[in-house]
Amino acid sequence: MRKTYLDNGSTSFPKAPGLGGVMSDFITNVGCNVGRGGYESAYNLAEVVLETRSLLCELFNFPDERNVVFTPTITYSLNFVIKGLLKPGDHVIMSAMEHNAVARPCIDMEKQGVEVSIAKCDEEGNLDFEDFESLFRPNTKLVVMTHASNVAGTVIDAGRVGEICRQKGVFFALDAAQSAGAIDIDFEALNLSALCITGHKGLLGPQGIGAMLLSEEMVQELDPVICGGTGSASHLLTMPEFMPDKFEAGTLNLPGIVGLHHSLKYVMEKGPSDILRHELALAGKFMEEVKKMPGVRIAGRQNTEGRVGTVSLDFTEFDNADISFRLDSEYGIMTRCGLHCAPLAHKSLNTYPQGTVRFAFGNFNTEEDVDYAVSAIRDIIGLTK
Ligand SMILES: Cc1ncc(COP(=O)(O)O)c(C=O)c1O
Repeated sequence: MRKTYLDNGSTSFPKAPGLGGVMSDFITNVGCNVGRGGYESAYNLAEVVLETRSLLCELFNFPDERNVVFTPTITYSLNFVIKGLLKPGDHVIMSAMEHNAVARPCIDMEKQGVEVSIAKCDEEGNLDFEDFESLFRPNTKLVVMTHASNVAGTVIDAGRVGEICRQKGVFFALDAAQSAGAIDIDFEALNLSALCITGHKGLLGPQGIGAMLLSEEMVQELDPVICGGTGSASHLLTMPEFMPDKFEAGTLNLPGIVGLHHSLKYVMEKGPSDILRHELALAGKFMEEVKKMPGVRIAGRQNTEGRVGTVSLDFTEFDNADISFRLDSEYGIMTRCGLHCAPLAHKSLNTYPQGTVRFAFGNFNTEEDVDYAVSAIRDIIGLTK
């Protein structure tokens, strides 16, 4: 059976060409650590690590390699920012489109006396700016929001959010899990305080490597959530104050960084805007076809404006889980159904509690994949008889 991967919102597949070879070569032929060994291969590896920080700076127009912190994935980046910044009595604002990687750490901080507000979003996933602005309080310390929804693909106007945060003197952290690699993100133009990313989605790298890019003001305010060895200032029983060591305790995921180094080069050579153009062409064609089908509702925006290539469908006459199961078992089409770790987003999109079947088109999908998925859906819901 033909296999068609349409679960790129969860993790991209395939990965950047050659990724497996590069990582395998590192594990087989290099394998050493950085910052802990005084020999040539360790120095060479340190250069690759530094170059990976530089690539991230270049991709996101970020000024300082030292403030690029590697983490195991964006969930950790977001936890490090939310839990390292907020103190009892502080107030944080998130949106009603958040993934649980933002929502859960924010709500968890309520136990520590942090106040949490959720800015409303409409049925398309757009932020309600009037409501958002009304939520600011004298103790508001942080705004943390997802850039592109993992459910409906809707992209928020991060520039406008950043400008409001700048005017109010509040830190702004962006969850770019679904946008990095597909949308041009300019750290400075968006007035970001923290950009949180993961390597395994649009950046086409391996799982297990993420990063947070921190403004100097954020670095000063943020406390490390994880403490441990850094290979530096070992006489101290406290974390070093200098960057990036302040937030990089423990051995880094070096196979992951070597892989990310490789995949970043691929993504940057191709260019996020080209990748997005391709993904939206596929998503647009798919949406036009499914709109013709009775009993199929597209959650969120109905066109390709202001979105990434993720399309969620609600089959009003069928069980969404059954559709997803049949797509896989009968047609080899891999999708994801349910709430996608984002119950708030489904409530905004009016797809709670049933959830949706998510078709997330990626860099390596083709028009044939779209045609095949459309015809499989038509078969399953009985339109071809
Ligand atoms: C918007 C968003 N934020 C955060 C995450 C968490 O990513 P990870 O599991 O790589 O930490 C995801 C994953 O799907 C996501 O879509």
